[in-house]
Amino acid sequence: MPKTTVLLVLIFCCHLAVLAERKRFTLYVNPHHRDLNETLYADDHHCHTIPYFYRRRASSIRTNGNCILLFPSLDCKKGEEFVFKKHCHGSRCCSKMDFAGCEIVKEDGTVLKIDDAAQAYVIC
Ligand SMILES: *[C@@H]1O[C@H](CO)[C@@H](O)[C@H](O)[C@H]1NC(C)=O
Repeated sequence: MPKTTVLLVLIFCCHLAVLAERKRFTLYVNPHHRDLNETLYADDHHCHTIPYFYRRRASSIRTNGNCILLFPSLDCKKGEEFVFKKHCHGSRCCSKMDFAGCEIVKEDGTVLKIDDAAQAYVIC
């Protein structure tokens, strides 16, 4: 095989490996995974903003078995993470994949909601 072919095959395989590692989840504008939805990806654990159209609009999520943190702030403010994952335990866990009724009571007593409020995410 010519060298360039070998190189191209190598590049292609590396690309596939990277794609396979990317974690994905889907946000829905409506509860119960209905209608308008957007699948988001990340291959790191950094803060990503939700695409403009879906910001402050999502009402349910499909995690694809991943651990997802959603934040009502654009910069993933510490202490304001809503946790979506299987077998989640703790006060920040959203037990249903629908956002309604999921809230965090902060130390100062203020209540944060995530329904129609999520603006950023982290794959945990
Ligand atoms: C999610 O969006 C796609 C188009 O982007 C659509 O075909 C699909 O039906 C939507 N899913 C649901 C559950 O409505």
